[in-house]
Amino acid sequence: MASKILIIGACGQIGTELTTALREKVGNNNVIASDIREGDEELMASGPFEILDATNFEQVEGVIEKHDINEVYLMAAMLSATAEKFPMKGWELNMNSLFHVLNIAKAGKIQKVFWPSSIAVFGPTTPKLDTPQQTVMEPSTVYGISKQAGERWCEYYYKKFGVDVRSIRYPGLISYKTLPGGGTTDYAVEIYHEALKTGKYTSFLKEDTELPMMFMDDAIRATISLMEAPAEKVKVRSSYNLSALNFTPKTLAASIRKHIPEFEISYAPDFRQEIADSWPSSIDDSHAREDWGWQHEYDLEKMTSEMLEGIREVHHV
Ligand SMILES: NC(=O)c1ccc[n+]([C@@H]2O[C@H](COP(=O)([O-])OP(=O)(O)OC[C@H]3O[C@@H](n4cnc5c(N)ncnc54)[C@H](O)[C@@H]3O)[C@@H](O)[C@H]2O)c1
Repeated sequence: MASKILIIGACGQIGTELTTALREKVGNNNVIASDIREGDEELMASGPFEILDATNFEQVEGVIEKHDINEVYLMAAMLSATAEKFPMKGWELNMNSLFHVLNIAKAGKIQKVFWPSSIAVFGPTTPKLDTPQQTVMEPSTVYGISKQAGERWCEYYYKKFGVDVRSIRYPGLISYKTLPGGGTTDYAVEIYHEALKTGKYTSFLKEDTELPMMFMDDAIRATISLMEAPAEKVKVRSSYNLSALNFTPKTLAASIRKHIPEFEISYAPDFRQEIADSWPSSIDDSHAREDWGWQHEYDLEKMTSEMLEGIREVHHV
């Protein structure tokens, strides 16, 4: 039987590309996209879509029953920078949506769940370089606290109730199809758009702030390959560290300058600097590499070429 998949939060930065990738793999009608709002034209035209509020249990359960869903990818969340502005709303969305999906899985109505965590689970007391899978975790943001709690609950539901839930601690994700949704690493997407549009960019992080990042194609491939891995290979049931590249605004600007020599960058750090300072600079993802064969494909140069080409093509800059 083909998987019937529901993506919640399908119109966001990751959901949009995940929907396309999964539809190509299992067929358009086997992937139900859903979100609290409509997505871009291409997504809306490519297959079934439901308006759904992830914090409303009856709505989530109703869509799962209506479409006979067996796998859920829960991508709806409030991201790091936005959740600092609306802490209670962020907590409510990030936690309640997860509980709804986990409880529906516990009841046996779905067989597999993907839920994304983040490098935001780490905090200022975490070792910053090559941050291990298991280490000190004292997140200092609302978002990070919600992701850490979510990880604990995922592992709990796996151990207590046998729920097959799988998760990745995404680093900052870089993509050109959909704009990012209010995270601390958004500068690394905006910079490409501004480089092409105006030839300059003012970074909200300092020039030497190094953070773990990943090109979206790698993140989507990782997500699908974790979900396809045999259950016994998925040994971490909280969330896997995942890594591809690390860079600073300064090194990113230098890679853009190889294509646009006149590009200028300036720096005006804001409240997001403090969030970035509390996160790792690099991540040890050897568990993901050993357990289910993770390998990244994009380095900084390859990503920059693809980003500039993609933005020119999709956004006609
Ligand atoms: N993008 C990144 O760099 C990154 C990094 C680490 C983790 N993550 C995690 O990955 C997941 C997806 O992130 P993203 O970047 O695509 O986020 P995004 O903000 O771009 O997309 C989230 C989507 O959820 C939808 N949504 C919001 N409230 C909803 C609700 N009540 N019901 C249904 N849908 C709702 C939004 O409309 C949006 O389309 C999140 O859990 C996020 O924390 C993202």
